[in-house]
Amino acid sequence: MLRPRTIELVKATVPVLAERGPDITKRFYELMFERHPELLNIFNHANQRQGRQSQALANAVYAAAANIDRLETIIPVVKQIGHKHRALNIRPEHYPIVGEHLLLAIKDVLGDAATDDIIQAWAEAYGVIADAFISVEQEMYQAAANQEGGWEGFRNFIVDRKVKESDVITSFYLKPADGGVLPAYLPGQYLTVRVKPAGQDNFHLRHYSLSHASGQDTYRISVKREDGLDSGTAGVVSSYLHDAVRKGDALEATAPAGDFTLRTGASSPVILLSGGVGLTPMMSMLHTLAKHEPARDVYFVHAAQNRRMHALREEVRTVTEANERIRSFVCYERPEAGDACDHQGFIDEAWLAATMPADVWQQADVYFCGPVPFMKAIYRALKGLGVSADRIHYEFFGPAGALEEA
Ligand SMILES: Cc1cc2nc3c(=O)[nH]c(=O)nc-3n(C[C@H](O)[C@H](O)[C@H](O)COP(=O)(O)OP(=O)(O)OC[C@H]3O[C@@H](n4cnc5c(N)ncnc54)[C@H](O)[C@@H]3O)c2cc1C
Ligand code: HEM
Repeated sequence: MLRPRTIELVKATVPVLAERGPDITKRFYELMFERHPELLNIFNHANQRQGRQSQALANAVYAAAANIDRLETIIPVVKQIGHKHRALNIRPEHYPIVGEHLLLAIKDVLGDAATDDIIQAWAEAYGVIADAFISVEQEMYQAAANQEGGWEGFRNFIVDRKVKESDVITSFYLKPADGGVLPAYLPGQYLTVRVKPAGQDNFHLRHYSLSHASGQDTYRISVKREDGLDSGTAGVVSSYLHDAVRKGDALEATAPAGDFTLRTGASSPVILLSGGVGLTPMMSMLHTLAKHEPARDVYFVHAAQNRRMHALREEVRTVTEANERIRSFVCYERPEAGDACDHQGFIDEAWLAATMPADVWQQADVYFCGPVPFMKAIYRALKGLGVSADRIHYEFFGPAGALEEA
């Protein structure tokens, strides 16, 4: 139990730390990677460089600290983050390292303003927050390991098939190298692979949504090649998977994880909206609905640049044709000559309103995933269509962020 004085000190200093957040975070990562370069095998280097993730960890610590006297209220957020941590194989022994360097960074940046009392209070508060994460994650590790065919940490897989799905997306069908059972997963969950491409000093971890329903004899992931045309730097893992990994090669992965999952067991309609490679979790949901909940009305809407970029088109068509309650729609942003689609240009509220009946919008659970601008536009449209917050579900293919403009 934290003493009232500790709680008071921590809560009083949260705004100061949050205000100096970017400086503290920068210093925190500098110090931590200098003294623990092995952690470069866990953290995503591109996210670090682009500052996308870096602030998230420290912000979450400050948010937890602001609620330090009622930590139970932040358990849902801890669980959300815990899925990612469990997928990345973050262990209890990592927590003191983060805590120590966060405190060192706070001292460095705040200087004399960071009195011994303040640092001591933050050390105690961090300990309590870390314990909350560790215990939530412990349960997740146990659940992943104890299910049929489950495992802890990394398991070796062999690429059984590699199939080109579009100009930019390729699927990898993965079989466990030990020949053992593949655990079931929920539609929408992802696999986390760890690779060390030739010429790289570190391992790299990336999440890839499982793009088929659970219950196959392989796990399938479908990966977009990030060629870095905008940035000039190709994505490390996606280009390695596309260019270097072949049938028969080995890949390591942690057990499926993630809380962006289909709500099953209801009779209400389901709307699945995807942009680009964001279709992968939707494919898993689509196959699951077709197989296990054929009485539900399903609307599958996919947006791609054009036919060449459109992955898994035939597979969606086959599922749609075999199930009268499933309808699918294709939107091309910039169709090329001869590209047939249901809508040209971006998906907007007017098109969505005209495509699905009003009563569907009042009842459906809506799932979406795609590039961030796509997700912001869809979110705005769903709000405009009156879809209530409890029926809106989405996944970011990068660090979690906000969809509403501040
Ligand atoms: C829950 C979840 C599920 C996901 N599911 C899928 C999926 O099903 N399919 C899929 O394809 N992806 C998926 N992703 C995204 C995936 O995890 C990777 O982020 C993606 O493959 C890019 O990884 P990379 O190593 O190729 O690129 P990184 O090396 O991580 O680079 C990321 C981007 O930054 C750019 N970049 C790199 N270095 C620089 C630099 N110095 N300056 C500027 N820009 C730079 C790269 O060009 C690239 O576009 C998912 C992500 C999450 C979080
Ligand atoms: C109480 C302490 C911690 C908090 C509050 C915290 C918070 C967060 C948050 C908010 C995210 C982003 C999740 C998302 O994008 O959905 C994240 C991701 C991540 N965390 Fe933690 N974290 C903590 C401890 C740790 C520890 C101890 C490690 C390992 C040393 C770690 C490693 C990571 C990594 C590798 C990611 C993925 C992001 C990336 O690679 O860019 N975290 N964490």
